[in-house]
Amino acid sequence: MKRAFITGITGQDGSYLAELLLGKGYEVHGLIRRASTFNTSRIDHLYVDPHEPEARLYLHYGDLSDGARLATLLAEINPDEVYNLAAQSHVRVSFDEPEHTADTTGTGTIRVLEAVRASKIETRYYQASSSELYGATPPPQNEETAFYPRSPYAAAKLYSFWITKNYREAYDLFAVNGILFNHESPRRGETFVTRKITRAVAAIKAGRQDHVYMGNLDAVRDWGYAAEYVEGMWRMLQADTPDDYVLATGVGTSVREFLVTAFEHAGLNWEDHVRFDERYLRPTEVDALIGDPSKAEAELGWKAKVHPLDLARLMVDADIEALQHAGQPWIDRVPLEGWPLR
Ligand code: NAP
Ligand code: GDD
Repeated sequence: MKRAFITGITGQDGSYLAELLLGKGYEVHGLIRRASTFNTSRIDHLYVDPHEPEARLYLHYGDLSDGARLATLLAEINPDEVYNLAAQSHVRVSFDEPEHTADTTGTGTIRVLEAVRASKIETRYYQASSSELYGATPPPQNEETAFYPRSPYAAAKLYSFWITKNYREAYDLFAVNGILFNHESPRRGETFVTRKITRAVAAIKAGRQDHVYMGNLDAVRDWGYAAEYVEGMWRMLQADTPDDYVLATGVGTSVREFLVTAFEHAGLNWEDHVRFDERYLRPTEVDALIGDPSKAEAELGWKAKVHPLDLARLMVDADIEALQHAGQPWIDRVPLEGWPLR
């Protein structure tokens, strides 16, 4: 039985990756942060009592700020594959918390890589790199495109990209960068633009809310479906040689197009409900990210099937469905516009 270690298992991608690996027969170990409330809602459906012989998913407390803990854990678990998905992953928030973002999204990576070396395990390493690295460089973007980061988040991810490549070259580690363009799902964090829109559409449709405040509607992104992207991560670690790959749909869509499609899908006119708030603008914006995933298709046989506007409809349906189930805490407890969250 193969064994995998996932940092960021409680996040969107971590939850889909855990599902995928369990489905392939892996034993899966995940790193979770100690919190004063439960933070496992995205993986609760995978829970099997660890005392049961069929249990194959185990969680361990730890944090990317704690290198010694990472080394001890890796020595204990001795995984065949390490997926480093944990990060402070919100671009706008990285302008508010640049030092914390550097420590988690940048230095956190060297702590995991050093833990791999210190524990002397034989393993393959996946680094969650990002299309944000391209920043101001115009699309289409592929593995040869120059990086031009435009946020503290992207600058931290730039360090992580290069240190991963350096450990591959310096220590002959099987280490790869997945340069993933935006990928979304019904499990997407609630303050990223797609999920913010689809949640608002569901709440407006249900008469629970009248409007939503948005920032720059002209930005263009290449939104794919997260459940498909974790398959690409796994394929990178099954390749004969380690390399870096772009995963994307190749289709660019503006925030406005996504928003119009989402509102129309629910039979709503977006202009009646969308307002502007500069709180959601960034000091430096990334205008357009559209990936060219042809290397991943040719070498890994990976291709995105769900395109951005299909994704908008899929996510609206999921949020409407979620709202119909009583006791959804997010809608009962958290007024959508009540907290000054980004
Ligand atoms: P996400 O939903 O924000 O999940 C982030 C995960 O990291 C969560 O499990 C979070 O734990 C964990 N985490 C944060 N700080 C930590 C720390 N100090 N120590 C340990 N764990 C910590 O992100 P995602 O969308 O799944 O993305 C996964 C990775 O891919 C991230 O590195 C992201 O930057 C990168 N990426 C994402 C996209 C995308 O479009 N989704 C595209 C390119 C790259 P809690 O649950 O406790 O908060
Ligand atoms: N979050 C948010 N909220 N974004 C808004 C809003 C709003 O109210 N209004 C407009 N936008 C615009 C942002 O300015 C940005 O141009 C675009 O919507 C997408 O924003 P996000 O969904 O927050 O994602 P992101 O592209 O900044 O970053 C995501 O994708 C990266 C890969 O390219 C994150 O998942 C990163 O972790 C990831 O690396």
